[in-house]
Amino acid sequence: DIDLAFVRSLPKAELHVHLEGTLEPATALACARRNGVSLPWGSEEELRAAYDFADLPAFLEVLFRVAGTLRQRQDFFDLAMDYLRHVHADGVTRAEVFVGSQTFLDAGVPIEVILDGVLAAFREAGEEWGIDARLICTAQRHREESTALELLDLIEPWREQVIGIGMGSAERGNPPSKFARFFAEAQRRGYRTTIHAGEDAPASYVVEALELGVDRIDHGVAVADDPALIRRVADLGVPLTMCPLSNVALKVVPTLAAHPLKRLLDAGVVVTLNSDDPPFFGGYVADNYVASAAGLGLTRAELTRLAENSLASCWAPS
Ligand code: ADE
Ligand code: ZN
Repeated sequence: DIDLAFVRSLPKAELHVHLEGTLEPATALACARRNGVSLPWGSEEELRAAYDFADLPAFLEVLFRVAGTLRQRQDFFDLAMDYLRHVHADGVTRAEVFVGSQTFLDAGVPIEVILDGVLAAFREAGEEWGIDARLICTAQRHREESTALELLDLIEPWREQVIGIGMGSAERGNPPSKFARFFAEAQRRGYRTTIHAGEDAPASYVVEALELGVDRIDHGVAVADDPALIRRVADLGVPLTMCPLSNVALKVVPTLAAHPLKRLLDAGVVVTLNSDDPPFFGGYVADNYVASAAGLGLTRAELTRLAENSLASCWAPS
């Protein structure tokens, strides 16, 4: 009896969503045309057909191509407004949103175009809908650590408007320990930190992530493979920002019924539900709650706890 209306009625936070990963196919094609960016897909139908991913690296190839259509301040502003309008209707009262600037910087987009466009939308959405939206700047782990450190210097003028620092992209072969100096420097500058870990790589990557002293773990699916690690994550109270529809779409788990989120929740881990890259994976945050409830038989009480966990795991002061 879990329907979308019940899930929407729960006040909740979204803590794991990549702004460039919220770009809808029709919007991406419009941006490509307007900005003179060529794409290998000519229609919305063709683009949607490409959203059939073998794994995380295959998805990232498409994501970076699609994200490359964003070029102007208005593109970033509109994207953030569209996302916040959608999740406001889903009962999201607070959002801490990843922006992966390196993709855009590579295409020659100045950092102020990205950050000022996004932050202006966050302010306007706050005034219009009362939603509290915050910015987390993410670095990509397939690059050298020096490039991540350069990003910290680049965003220095926005330090007070950036709630934290995160890290995504191709996980396997790029372990958390590769970025030990980067995370230490981010923490020294006063940022909260998080990292994708245990999505496409084993539990040992989560152990390394904890060694970095991060405040949250993004995904953390592999935690469930290691009983000692389950206990450690539960005892530490480090939240996992899990994304069940993403994990099915990228073949991290075979089905929602096989997702470990309920087992981890039962073990006392601070589990939260999130969307990651909603149009790519078939659903926004409320859809992730509904689909998880259907796949795992979650009760209203469990969904309420997941929503409460998300609000308790926010970095921004309430
Ligand atoms: N960037 C966008 N979505 C991601 C994911 N699921 N894992 C790693 N990097 C990402
Ligand atoms: Zn992610």
